[in-house]
Amino acid sequence: MSVEAAVSAQSAACLKAPVGLLAELTHRCPLQCPYCSNPLALEGVAGELSTEAWLDVLAQAAELGVLQLHLSGGEPTVRRDLEDIVAQAAKVGLYSNLITAAVLLTRERLERLAAHGLDHVQISLQDTQAANADRIAHYQNGHARKLEAAGWVRALGLPLTLNAPIHRQNISSLAQFIDLAERLGAQRLEVAHVQYYGWALRNRAALMPTREQVLRSAELVARARARLKGILVIDFVVPDYYARRPKPCMGGWGRGIINITPSGKVLPCHAAETLPGLAFDNVRDRPLRDIWLGSQAFQKYRGTDWMREPCRSCEFREQDWGGCRCQAFAFTGAADLADPACNKSSFHNAFADVARQEAASEAPAFVFRSPRAAAR
Ligand code: FES
Repeated sequence: MSVEAAVSAQSAACLKAPVGLLAELTHRCPLQCPYCSNPLALEGVAGELSTEAWLDVLAQAAELGVLQLHLSGGEPTVRRDLEDIVAQAAKVGLYSNLITAAVLLTRERLERLAAHGLDHVQISLQDTQAANADRIAHYQNGHARKLEAAGWVRALGLPLTLNAPIHRQNISSLAQFIDLAERLGAQRLEVAHVQYYGWALRNRAALMPTREQVLRSAELVARARARLKGILVIDFVVPDYYARRPKPCMGGWGRGIINITPSGKVLPCHAAETLPGLAFDNVRDRPLRDIWLGSQAFQKYRGTDWMREPCRSCEFREQDWGGCRCQAFAFTGAADLADPACNKSSFHNAFADVARQEAASEAPAFVFRSPRAAAR
């Protein structure tokens, strides 16, 4: 490709506005889920962006064309300024989605957030059996609090999504997850097999289901989707290790999503800091638009110019965008190789073998997500 054509292809990708902003307001969290997508090196409270900085970021995001704001963490409700952040989202025209563990919520706080303009709530569940749910979250009585909070969300007339991260230690509860979502009046259920980044990669052997379990879960979801059409939307994410084709991670690198860490670093995906050779700009130093359009980290794997074979000549290269860079690096040691989830990757068979072996072995104890475990 000529330099001119390469520049123009790059610009076309850049000119598309990002749809979503994932704002990781904090890494503080009362739960210690062993599959958390936060990095192993958690950021401390002292480095968190101020209220003013977040308000400015949201105004810049709206200006840039962002439509959806996902308020995440850690646990976003530990921030006392969450109401101000939600109000700013409403003011600048961003659709706000609170992604919460819900164990710290009170009805009064939720009412306040709704009054400040909150649009949607997403509550994560660890299992449908309280004892197992609380064991996985490493937090007592958390499950009961989540169910109570889900009731308040619906009573206040807010749309509710339940998020069910699925793995070998709760996959037998899948049918009950679907029943629970229906009973709670949720609009959407995300049945997301755990994706192996961050803490989940550290705990992979304790989380990996068998291929047969995954296939059964897919059949169960297909039947439930048909039965609940028009009542409950069920999203389904399969584990990459049993896939034949990679997913377009984040919809393609630098194509639609911006991730901002608690300290203001702007990332193309939540695990991007695991990749070598990337320089991350910070919203404290550079306007969000400049970062989106020109930062080294966003440009590095944007589009298709960076690809090597088999991606470079693959007919699906502008559908899956080479899959996940972080997974490619974690498994192959090279971030510009094909995602090993792809059956064209020379690492694909070894990748699937790891899953088979780990799923067939006894599950080791969890390493729970905590600053102390992170330090170790
Ligand atoms: Fe980073 Fe997939 S998580 S590209």
